[in-house]
Amino acid sequence: MNTTNQTAAVPGRRVAIVGTGSYAPERVLTNAELEKMVDTTDEWIVTRSGIRERHIARADEATSDMASEAALRALESAGVKAEELDLLIVATVTPDMPFPNTACFVQKRIGAKHATCFDLEAACSGFLFAVDTARQYLLAGTIKTALVIGAEKLSSVTDWQDRGTCVLFGDGAGAVVLRAVDGERGILATVTGSDGSLTELLNIPAGGSRTPTTHETVDQRLHYMKMVGREVFKHAVRSMGEAAGRALEQCGLTVNDVACVIPHQANIRIIEAIRDRLGLPPERFFVNLDRYGNTSAASVPLALDQAVRAGRIKAGDVVVLVAFGGGFTWAATVMRW
Ligand code: ACO
Repeated sequence: MNTTNQTAAVPGRRVAIVGTGSYAPERVLTNAELEKMVDTTDEWIVTRSGIRERHIARADEATSDMASEAALRALESAGVKAEELDLLIVATVTPDMPFPNTACFVQKRIGAKHATCFDLEAACSGFLFAVDTARQYLLAGTIKTALVIGAEKLSSVTDWQDRGTCVLFGDGAGAVVLRAVDGERGILATVTGSDGSLTELLNIPAGGSRTPTTHETVDQRLHYMKMVGREVFKHAVRSMGEAAGRALEQCGLTVNDVACVIPHQANIRIIEAIRDRLGLPPERFFVNLDRYGNTSAASVPLALDQAVRAGRIKAGDVVVLVAFGGGFTWAATVMRW
């Protein structure tokens, strides 16, 4: 089943990212440390995934704490006050609690008292789904300013005894401030999609209404992420490559127009395969997964903020953001910076 939708840009009005921010916890977990925890090697992890280290949140640090730090930095870079926010969306698979939503915790922490707050869950594609959602509000003219955050404490759902997954994930947050703007810059096209026939390839089996938490589910380690890595890999390459290509086509651009691609940071081999598919040189891709691992919904906004602050993205550049995650879900957004 393929339910890909396309949303064309409304002529004369665009939504742009007017500020970015990110946060990673202080503690760094290296591959050498993982060698002491599970049967693995630095060499295996680097050659199979490209990851060298990842950041891990403190025990008392929740997703909303990281999200709030990233949010404050994004607001500062945009020159926007928290009270000006009309909408606050947090994309996450690791909320502070099943409810209330994590966005409400962020609202309290940063003082966004006029914002409508909710979470959005689309695994690693969640941030781009949330940006597209906020964009619809902004294009409709019902709100003026939105804050979208991708934030994850994946270490809290990682099975530290499973070498097949624990070497891949990390914690962090990234945020953007969005506004409708005049002129050439802003989001040009977005492609989103889902395939609910493949839910079994990447999930957390227990803790929801299907399999509520019991002593048995905890003993069976069913509250941790399960992944059929090789299958996820194949779908990730195909879906991200297609989505990026279609989003560019939708706004009449080609890969030659692209200055920078910010891909979901899951595996360097996935990024290389997408690069080959699109026919783009390595220098047009921003990669930070060697230092952060896969931070799911935080991955794209964390990398975007770093790319912007490093001067890799300049005014007028065409930038492509592309992601893939559990569900399956995928999304690509093309914007002029
Ligand atoms: N150290 C050493 N050996 C390992 C490790 C490890 N950490 N993990 C697995 N192996 C072994 C396996 O047991 C297997 O051994 P066997 O052949 O004796 O059975 C062998 O290495 C190969 O395992 P594969 O899983 O086939 O390895 P692969 O080359 O596919 O790489 C990986 C695994 C890195 C997980 C890759 O499949 C991948 O990146 N998949 C995509 C993950 C992804 O993109 N997720 C994105 C979404 S995540 C989200 O939405 C939250």
